[in-house]
Amino acid sequence: MKGQAVRSVPLPKLIFEKSRKGRVGCNVPVADTPEVDLKAALGQVREELHLPEVSELEVLRHFTILSHVNYGIETGFYPLGSCTMKYNPKINERTAALPGFSMLHPMQPASMIPGAMEILLGVQDMLKEITGFDYITLQPVAGAHGEMTCLMLIRAYHESRGEGKQRHTILVPDSAHGTNPASAARCGYDVKSIPTDADGNTDLKALEAALDDSIAGLMLTNPSTLGLFEPNITKICEMVHKAGGMVFCDGANMNAMVGTTRPGDHGFDCMHLNLHKTFSTPHGGGGPGCGAIGIKSHLEPFLPVPIVQRVDGKPSLDWHRPHSIGRVSPYYGQFLMEVRAYTYLRAYGKEKMHEISHYAVLNANYIKARLKDVLPAAYDRPCMHECVLTAEKYKKQHGVRALDISKRLIDYGFHPPTNYFPLIVPEAMMIEPTETECKETLDAFCDAMIEICTEAVNDPDLLHNAPTSQIVGRLDETKAVKELDVRWRTKREGVKV
Ligand SMILES: Cc1ncc(COP(=O)(O)O)c(C=O)c1O
Repeated sequence: MKGQAVRSVPLPKLIFEKSRKGRVGCNVPVADTPEVDLKAALGQVREELHLPEVSELEVLRHFTILSHVNYGIETGFYPLGSCTMKYNPKINERTAALPGFSMLHPMQPASMIPGAMEILLGVQDMLKEITGFDYITLQPVAGAHGEMTCLMLIRAYHESRGEGKQRHTILVPDSAHGTNPASAARCGYDVKSIPTDADGNTDLKALEAALDDSIAGLMLTNPSTLGLFEPNITKICEMVHKAGGMVFCDGANMNAMVGTTRPGDHGFDCMHLNLHKTFSTPHGGGGPGCGAIGIKSHLEPFLPVPIVQRVDGKPSLDWHRPHSIGRVSPYYGQFLMEVRAYTYLRAYGKEKMHEISHYAVLNANYIKARLKDVLPAAYDRPCMHECVLTAEKYKKQHGVRALDISKRLIDYGFHPPTNYFPLIVPEAMMIEPTETECKETLDAFCDAMIEICTEAVNDPDLLHNAPTSQIVGRLDETKAVKELDVRWRTKREGVKV
């Protein structure tokens, strides 16, 4: 039935449901010292802690079973567009776990941790070369945080020229990720939307009409979230500069360009990178990530402190920066993310770096080509690292939405692609395979998509009711967010805690 959870796999029991009074999870040796009455010795001791009482084996089974109902890049294909869910090589974890890195204290002075400073400098230097920017800071801890930091630098730049108040508007294309307008608004800017033209590019006429001396800058994602390279990028940067604005590059899609082309050469003034996407540090469920930023030298006076630099061959920190916007995060950012990114970058090396973007683009175009008869591309031209397809015809003709196709994919063993983003594509399905997938996996995914599209025509309810292979079926996504059921005692035992 539509909207109702269908369960064909037994729901694993909660650990509290497995609990039996008096059962213990560890083998404690008989004490060879006199027993002490804790309550008498310590005063207030709680009688009841509401902890599950289970054996070690039950604990082990419980968490192993839970890990099996989870889906991750290590269990299957994860084509979540715009998120670059590539495989993160295990060597990254090994180096990040080395005690010389993992046991460092953030308050240790730079002179005591030259190795860690070399890592930060190494990542900065490599990102400089990859992006074509003059300076890098690793402080921001997420992509959105990097966006905001760049906008703060842009604001400081305009203020330094006495144009801070006058330039109060940031332009954002209508295909942008939601964090772009949110970051601009968070910085106190007015946000103006720029439409996309019929070919999927920034509408140059609309941009021209929007440019005046109230414009602080433009936030442009390249390749765009439509998975398309912006062919007018140099012209756009020139237009915005002529009007006195700055151009920020949302570089979350750098996986399409790494080792091949550099935003710093396209005319941008600044950009952010998502190390947790392109440079294979793990996505942290809202953090800890790294939204490193690159800037051109005219924004350098405003960089966040401290600056990690090398003076006379030795790493050091520069705190004396009168025009700095200040800190944007504690210490130097997420240090162990930098260790992972450093490992990844060094493992690829300059010579092979282009393979990342070449294979990412090839894989996305392969999927686009294989699915073209069932799910056409929103804009029919070669895509970059992701393809945005539309399921509009299934909605119109069979009442089947992109969401239904995605949910059915779960029954075929695949993580769904991103749906309904970018907002300007009706019934959007945004597929980003990444370079780490082999042809067999791409084919298996495409075969499943083609079969599901046939099901959409012949048996739409099969898709409306999907998924049926999981411990929960189709969820009411609004209710799932608004009525979180994460407190076992209230629901399962009827006990208020
Ligand atoms: C195009 C684009 N820009 C910005 C972001 C924001 O990055 P983060 O989630 O790290 O804040 C994302 C995240 O998915 C993105 O896809």
